[in-house]
Amino acid sequence: MRRKSHRYRFQLLHEWLVSHYAPQKAADVGGGKGLLAYLLIQSGWDVTVIDPAPQILPRTFKNLQKVRTTLNIDKRGQINRIDKPFEIDMAMDYQMLMGLHSHGSNLKIIDACAKYKKNFILLPCCVIDEPIEIKADINWLESLVIYAEEKGFKVGREMLGFKGQDTIIYSL
Ligand SMILES: C[S@@+](CC[C@H](N)C(=O)[O-])C[C@H]1O[C@@H](n2cnc3c(N)ncnc32)[C@H](O)[C@@H]1O
Repeated sequence: MRRKSHRYRFQLLHEWLVSHYAPQKAADVGGGKGLLAYLLIQSGWDVTVIDPAPQILPRTFKNLQKVRTTLNIDKRGQINRIDKPFEIDMAMDYQMLMGLHSHGSNLKIIDACAKYKKNFILLPCCVIDEPIEIKADINWLESLVIYAEEKGFKVGREMLGFKGQDTIIYSL
């Protein structure tokens, strides 16, 4: 299968999430501008972006059919944001924590989900700001899987089909 540009990561993850889970209350940790949250809210989810850097949604995006789509102005203003760094106890309020290329929060998301018995969906890219020792013979993704398994999770993985690091790891 020909892989899409990484710019479609939100659309592909949205499609994957709605085909695997019922709408639910979720947090997008390190959610950036909030496009994933916007798409999920359109699908009936209740999503909050947790990200210390205040950012605003784009006015348009291309859907998976490459059609440029204007965001619904009312919905743009409706995205809940917590403009603070993610902390473990924030997990209490959600059923699922997502981290799409989220910086410095992957291990904390797993810790939070273990503590509060929540589901996680992670699409890790790099090890920036993570409290982990980098070992030459173990890659970052495998380290996260091992870390989650040691916390008692069974971990699934799937590839979303975009260029770059497109593997999702998630609690089963
Ligand atoms: C590479 S960007 C990814 C943004 C978005 N998910 C995407 O895929 O475009 C990483 C994001 O993590 C956020 N971030 C950094 N430290 C964080 C923290 N401690 N808690 C939550 N988000 C954080 C940054 O502000 C940034 O928006």
